[in-house]
Amino acid sequence: MSFHYLNRELHVEEVPIANIMAEFGSPCYIYSLAILQRQWCAFKQLLENSQQICYAVKANSNLTILATLAKWGAGFDIVSGGELARVMQAGGDLKKTVFSGVGKTCEEIKTALLANIGCFNVESQSELLRIESIAKNLHKVASIALRINPNIDAKTHPYITTGLKETKFGMSADTALQLYRRAAQSQHLKIQGISCHLGSQLTTLDPFLQAIEQLLDLAEQLKNESIELKTINLGGGLGISYQSENIPTPQDYCQKILNSLKKSKTKLQLIIEPGRAITAQAGILVTKVEYLKSNGEKNFAIVDAGMNDLIRPALYQVEHTILPIIQRDQTVQNYDVVGPICESSDFFAKNRPLAIQSGDYLAMMDSGAYGFSMSSNYNSRPRPTEVMVDKNQYFLIRTRETLEQLWSNEKLTH
Ligand SMILES: Cc1ncc(COP(=O)(O)O)c(C=O)c1O
Repeated sequence: MSFHYLNRELHVEEVPIANIMAEFGSPCYIYSLAILQRQWCAFKQLLENSQQICYAVKANSNLTILATLAKWGAGFDIVSGGELARVMQAGGDLKKTVFSGVGKTCEEIKTALLANIGCFNVESQSELLRIESIAKNLHKVASIALRINPNIDAKTHPYITTGLKETKFGMSADTALQLYRRAAQSQHLKIQGISCHLGSQLTTLDPFLQAIEQLLDLAEQLKNESIELKTINLGGGLGISYQSENIPTPQDYCQKILNSLKKSKTKLQLIIEPGRAITAQAGILVTKVEYLKSNGEKNFAIVDAGMNDLIRPALYQVEHTILPIIQRDQTVQNYDVVGPICESSDFFAKNRPLAIQSGDYLAMMDSGAYGFSMSSNYNSRPRPTEVMVDKNQYFLIRTRETLEQLWSNEKLTH
């Protein structure tokens, strides 16, 4: 149990969270190395060496987290030149790095080619032609996989659904067929595989299995035309339980996918790109209750973290489990837990039963993915500290931003 109460005090691994807060202040992201490892191993244990996990950097791109995963053998799924630079900085294996995203710029493609990344997940005809032309100018050969949009409803929040026809992602199987034929003729493109990504926070496995069938059908069709694929990349998307929902485990997910691949005649090497399911449960955001306030109808707990620090509740209308760092022996009251930002969307929970006083610390559980990585400086708020805990030790992995950093790129001209 990596986050647990001992004498009514919340601990992360062997460390009381109150100690970390006393040293580094609030708000603060705190990660458990043990949970990160548990989640990594949950995926890794069922896969063979030829099958690759390319961790989706966007979920949490802290260098220590990337370097740790790299040490454990992870590859990476990147979606920008910035993420590529982070993987390089963290010492990640570029051969095991795949580049996704609908808007790769010329500069990003060039840098990725010069860095010899493993594969581009290509999302359109114009992108394929751009990659080919840049590869030609550099006298290089770009490895590519075409990203299929299988028009499958992932039954998740509309903002994180990416496998439906109406979204901007990927291409139809028909378009892909034409482009594979085109790529097969090119001296500067090497067809490596086929890919897709259905969305994020999927809570059932059926959409993944349906997608595999579609991708395998296309792979077989290509094989009949002597176009051989090596890899099948299923993207990321496995959800986690934010409020005790019943969600398939990484083991269930890997097992079902592997079974369905085994049944096919086309023998393709699996690549997956999990993000959330690796880092979400490993991290919490700890925040201090500044004020308790009541308007006669509602109680508010106003905390010192805002939607700029953790935007998921505001953006996706999801609520995280909230645990007090010290369990108090007092009556519970219902609170809206809200931040200091001047927007009514700045909330973490509505009507949450809590036994708290001002000055207490609260932990927003499962905030290790799409937490810090989506944070901003809105309302001119420096972004929080990040700390990693390993058994009975803890390390600063990102210092709190300073006020000077807020305007360090600005020029005062008048
Ligand atoms: C192409 C791609 N791969 C992987 C992921 C990671 O998804 P998740 O964090 O849900 O596993 C994303 C996230 O949206 C993505 O766009």
